[in-house]
Amino acid sequence: MRDTVHVDLGARAYDVEIGPGLIDQAGDLIAPHLARPRVTVLTDETVAGLHLDRLRVGLAAAGIKMEALALPPGEGTKSWPYLTQSVEWLLEQKVERRDVVVAFGGGVIGDLAGFAAAILRRGVRFVQIPTSLLAQVDSSVGGKTGINTAQGKNLVGAFHQPSLVLADTDVLDTLTPRDFLAGYGEVVKYGLLGDAEFFSWLEGQGPALAAGDMAARVRAVTRSVEMKARIVERDETEQGDRALLNLGHTFCHALEAATGYSDRLLHGEGVAIGCALAFELSARLGLCSQEAPSRVRAHLRDMKMKTDLSDIPGDLPDAEGLMALMAQDKKVVDGQLRFILARDIGDAFVATDVPSDAVLTLLRDALG
Ligand code: GLY
Repeated sequence: MRDTVHVDLGARAYDVEIGPGLIDQAGDLIAPHLARPRVTVLTDETVAGLHLDRLRVGLAAAGIKMEALALPPGEGTKSWPYLTQSVEWLLEQKVERRDVVVAFGGGVIGDLAGFAAAILRRGVRFVQIPTSLLAQVDSSVGGKTGINTAQGKNLVGAFHQPSLVLADTDVLDTLTPRDFLAGYGEVVKYGLLGDAEFFSWLEGQGPALAAGDMAARVRAVTRSVEMKARIVERDETEQGDRALLNLGHTFCHALEAATGYSDRLLHGEGVAIGCALAFELSARLGLCSQEAPSRVRAHLRDMKMKTDLSDIPGDLPDAEGLMALMAQDKKVVDGQLRFILARDIGDAFVATDVPSDAVLTLLRDALG
């Protein structure tokens, strides 16, 4: 049960391997990329406690030695101080230009380690071993790397494609149900933005997948990665189509800012709510039928996911306040809000001319 998705980016092409047991085979899978049998691993303390020994054994099976730096878990690690620490540690480890850095963790570690690799010695190669569902289906693929600053999230970074991605679906068993479902928000997004058949399949298989059905998990991760790969191949640096991957994200970013990037709302939860709002907005603008947003919400509810603004604990700003937060989103181009809207399930497009009064009314009703 192992799938391979090839990301065809010419000189920067790479494979994403998906399936159970890949950490145990990491040595054999990474060896072809190494100039010498040694890797440096950036990880977080939680992932290290759960999985680092397995990685060490998997690498040793192919005679590869590893050194690891475990950083604190959490979004705060995607910052200048930990970037400095990571880069200096990699230099102390005498990582050379032809060596490979391994990012072993969720989206925070992937983005931080990828950026450290991008700037170390003007760019060393790196391998992603994503350990959250969100990282497996989204952030480990496509080469976006970076850190957050006081001015906002992901404002400093580089496009730096990995040399290999190993998505070991066994590690998904160690996620909390909440983290798993947050990652599932991104899986649903792929169906909604470009594959109606996949969304129908998720409507049927989603509950089994959440309950641990491995074949369903592999299929869901593989289809998500395939969709992301095809979009990134068309538009590596987000000049156009790649923005489709931001379905639900304009709303999500405003909600994350409104909740202080706290435990009140995980990114994937915000994406799910954002997708429901994007479909509702599309229906109100006459772009898609009212049935589409109803189906989106019904599936999220079936999965016991956050679906509406009222599912977010605590107070939210009013509609004007949320609009103001959206206006700060980095996806704003020339002051115009850019939304990903949909003509139907599986048929999203980038819209730049969305009337702000329609968004305001939608938010007022949603805050109800
Ligand atoms: N997560 C959105 C992208 O990779 O473009």
